[in-house]
Amino acid sequence: MKILAIESSCDETAAALVEDGRIVLRNEVVSQIPIHERYGGVVPEIASRCHIEAIEPLVERALGGETPDAVAVTYAPGLIGALLVGVNYAKSLAYTLNVPLIPVHHLRGHVASNYLTHPDLKPPFTALIASGGHSHIVHVKSYTEYEILGKTRDDAAGEAFDKSARILGLGYPGGPKIQKAAETGNPDAIVFPKVHFKDAPYDFSFSGVKTAVVNYAHTAKQRGEEINAADLAASFTKAVCGVLTEKSVLAAKNTTGKLVLAGGVSANRDLRSYMETACKEEGIELYLPRQDLCGDNAAMIGAQAYFEHLAGHTAGTDLNAYATMAVDQPHW
Ligand code: KG4
Ligand code: ZN
Repeated sequence: MKILAIESSCDETAAALVEDGRIVLRNEVVSQIPIHERYGGVVPEIASRCHIEAIEPLVERALGGETPDAVAVTYAPGLIGALLVGVNYAKSLAYTLNVPLIPVHHLRGHVASNYLTHPDLKPPFTALIASGGHSHIVHVKSYTEYEILGKTRDDAAGEAFDKSARILGLGYPGGPKIQKAAETGNPDAIVFPKVHFKDAPYDFSFSGVKTAVVNYAHTAKQRGEEINAADLAASFTKAVCGVLTEKSVLAAKNTTGKLVLAGGVSANRDLRSYMETACKEEGIELYLPRQDLCGDNAAMIGAQAYFEHLAGHTAGTDLNAYATMAVDQPHW
């Protein structure tokens, strides 16, 4: 089954053609980063307008003259105006072609990038989903049944990277810039607070680390000292990636023995290396998504769509977009 998938939840317009949830036939992305960079973050109104401009030629390129067996689209969560562009386009296309319309939860899509990377990977497994808006540890019981084991109580991991990069004047998006700056820094230069919750071992909190970066930068400024951005980036990375690793490896150990990484932050070089070391020590099977499928893309949406379709999850032309939606309880 060939599925045309559309993704427009944030600052990337994407379309892909994916076969049977595992094979990427074509994967097209237009990034808006150069546009939003000027503002230091995503401007929702501009994002929606850019999606409208980009979507038509992108879908045509992804189709390459073929007719899909179904049309899939990210319908939640994300920027509402941005999501609506993809949802409305997908609805009209599915209606015109008279093929099923498959709504896909964005975070489930991120997890599915691993089905494209590892052809033999099958649920059940435990997954860390770390993106710009979410940080979850989930038990993926089947392709379409999720249980949330833990989540952030404040900022998402990616958000902490983005905000800290802004404080350090490194620009947007923060993750890759912090990673670059951290290369020459000392990860033990600054010790950041680690938050643990007694009753919720898999919950995260990243606002404390972010505040620590702010305070560190302010103090240095008041003293007239130069901020050592490399040391700060390296120490910040160690704190955030250390806690992501500890908690998700513990969750995998106590549940399935298999750990899957997903979301934009899973591109982080240090996170991947911490995970590799910890999983080897604990005897956990680790699955990392291909670098080019870590960020937002439509291939991952097409992969998850195949399994949603097998489970009978299709929608009609009354499909709506939702800014927020729990990953374990999707509805349409
Ligand atoms: O999954 P994603 O592309 O979009 C959302 O669904 O949010 O994630 C974007 C987030 C941003 O916060 C970005 O700074 C972060 O992923 N990110 C990284 C890296 N690349 C992207 N964070 C740390 N290290 C990276 N190399
Ligand atoms: Zn994403």
